[in-house]
Amino acid sequence: MHSDSTARDATTDAVIDVRGLDKTYEGGFQALKGIDLTVRRGEIFALLGPNGAGKTTLISIICGIVNPGSGTVTVDGHDIIRDWRKTRTIIGLVPQELKTDAFETVWNTVRFSRGLFGKAPDDAYLEQLLKDLSLWDKRDAKILMLSGGMKRRVMIAKALSHQPNVLFLDEPTAGVDVELRRDMWAMVRRLRESGVTIILTTHYIEEAEDMADRVGVINKGELIVVEDKTALMQKLGKKQLRLQLHEPMASVPESLTDYGLELNGKGDEITYSYDTQSERTGITALLRDLAAAGIGFKDLSTRQDTLEQIFVELVREGP
Ligand SMILES: Nc1ncnc2c1ncn2[C@@H]1O[C@H](COP(=O)(O)OP(=O)(O)O)[C@@H](O)[C@H]1O
Ligand SMILES: [Mg+2]
Repeated sequence: MHSDSTARDATTDAVIDVRGLDKTYEGGFQALKGIDLTVRRGEIFALLGPNGAGKTTLISIICGIVNPGSGTVTVDGHDIIRDWRKTRTIIGLVPQELKTDAFETVWNTVRFSRGLFGKAPDDAYLEQLLKDLSLWDKRDAKILMLSGGMKRRVMIAKALSHQPNVLFLDEPTAGVDVELRRDMWAMVRRLRESGVTIILTTHYIEEAEDMADRVGVINKGELIVVEDKTALMQKLGKKQLRLQLHEPMASVPESLTDYGLELNGKGDEITYSYDTQSERTGITALLRDLAAAGIGFKDLSTRQDTLEQIFVELVREGP
């Protein structure tokens, strides 16, 4: 955390601020359209979107790898164009594509990387970093000798070599084995606890559901939703009530047709879908009408839409 962060108002404590950002690639393809986004200090922000939505473009612009079109981006109050040197020291990026200096050793790579950001050497920090990433045993190995998973660990070590306050992870778990995935999320949690802001893109929505504080959904270059994860799930998720019946039935009785109930194959379970936002869920009325129809149940459970289901809905409707 920055020493001056206490002076800031917590509610307006933006670490990344993107205003009216457009990006058109050479050749005329518009990859980003009027993006406004604020990432708060210390949060885990997940940027979700289908392939080609513009996630990597947005991240690459903030990290100074791709030129922005119109609009402004600030990192910790510093403009990414005017103060590019400063903003880059604040940021660490684990890119989507594996790219490393194959002939260097792991140790030299992370040490050199730290130096590139103008940080004084700190071998104790780098040693701990490599240990945390299970890379310490491999410190003298040349990168080209490492497995794909180990190379990815090196990318993470490089991104953290200069102790950034903001870490970007672009599709961090695409094609990654279970062990690395687990280590990576443990690391992300530790970093967050130490005050680092994490921005990750993924199309494994389950991970966002587990990890993120807030979620942004991007589709065809437009940011269509930015919301607290829990609020998003409550607002947009439909809920289902399931009833396990005492006796199977052949069909839903006439008196209950208005509820739009689904009867499962065996006839011993019915599902009722309701909107969590509406004033009345209809559950009380349903239970009353079931009793009136002489239908008894032995168990009842509710289920909420996953973030994945909400995401699919959002992107299908799209802008
Ligand atoms: N260098 C480039 N030149 C032209 N078009 C590009 C370039 N990079 C990405 N694009 C296009 O921009 C769109 C968004 O790409 P990208 O940001 O990589 O999406 P995502 O990371 O969400 O999959 C895609 O349609 C992609 O083909
Ligand atoms: Mg991408």
